Amino acid sequence: MKQNVEHLLEQFPISEFQNDLIHWFEREQRDLPWRKDKDPYKVWVSEIMLQQTRVDTVIPYFNRFISKFPTIDSLADAEEDDVLKAWEGLGYYSRVRNLQSAVKEVKEKYNGIVPNSASEISKLKGVGPYTTGAILSIAYGIPEPAVDGNVMRVLSRILSVWEDIAKPKTRHIFEDVVRVIISKENPSYFNQALMELGALICTPTSPSCLLCPVQEHCRAFREGCQNELPIKSKKKAPRAISMAAVVLQNNQGEVLIQKRPSTGLLANLWEFPNAEVHEGIFSAKEQLAEKILLEDGYEVKMKEQFSTIQHIFSHLIWNISVFKGEVSSNIVLKENMRFVDKEEIKMFAFPVSHQKIYKDFLESHT
Ligand code: ADE
Repeated sequence: MKQNVEHLLEQFPISEFQNDLIHWFEREQRDLPWRKDKDPYKVWVSEIMLQQTRVDTVIPYFNRFISKFPTIDSLADAEEDDVLKAWEGLGYYSRVRNLQSAVKEVKEKYNGIVPNSASEISKLKGVGPYTTGAILSIAYGIPEPAVDGNVMRVLSRILSVWEDIAKPKTRHIFEDVVRVIISKENPSYFNQALMELGALICTPTSPSCLLCPVQEHCRAFREGCQNELPIKSKKKAPRAISMAAVVLQNNQGEVLIQKRPSTGLLANLWEFPNAEVHEGIFSAKEQLAEKILLEDGYEVKMKEQFSTIQHIFSHLIWNISVFKGEVSSNIVLKENMRFVDKEEIKMFAFPVSHQKIYKDFLESHT
């Protein structure tokens, strides 16, 4: 055993802990759609969705996604636009673009069977150590750690670990710990029980220690420091930028939308014409019209502002002033641009901020 892990686990009653944790999970686990079977593909989809997104939000997306793309082959063969549409609103869209590339690789290289070794799974796009461990343990019963922020919170408290969980090296400490304490008989339930404990009992603020099935093994509870753990350094505040966007209508009442570039933030999603704007002698409206003329080569008639929208990303905040405008039906459309009517627009995947723009636009007419 590694030295620091040996020290942390001194006098820790591993098998009592495993039993109490797993028995609690057997009794109390939530009825979640991805727990109905052990299909590695479904486990994989659920774990990707659950990164950065709450269980309650994920449930309806998971059910819809699996009905639309029930198998590796169906997702591998789907149009990317349809896949993005099924993910619309979940955020962090690179997750699903990576998932589709990885699923294509599984189809081609592994005959459509998700591999069952850490070295092969972890080479797939978007599959890091957490997802590798979750798939291997839940779908294949292989004792591999699946350590995310929730699991680190739980284990920081149980073992009274005062390392900063925002640092990558701390995750390695917990992975080494889990390799030792994971149940070799039931690694699936062990890992899921740690996640479930983090979700239901050992919550970030005011943990329900009095209901905790492993209270008697918890050092933080014994020391009364459960509210001080985990230690997590703050990341820097997101940078705010000002933007202008415009819903441009042609004389048939259709609106102009455009597809974002295939790399970077919100890659390949659709949006209304927009630009970052700055304080100065030109108004936001003028700056946007100028950018459209210079970069996309068409003239617009900007009209009134009808909405202001804020969108908060983990690293960035968009403050968007939103205008109406008119444009000729005869402009030359680039390949990434379309005029769409009220029905057609439903087929395209937009970032949530641009979904709101369109909703406010429709409401501003009524
Ligand atoms: N969070 C991450 N993975 C999870 C899972 N499989 N069940 C519930 N919550 C989770």
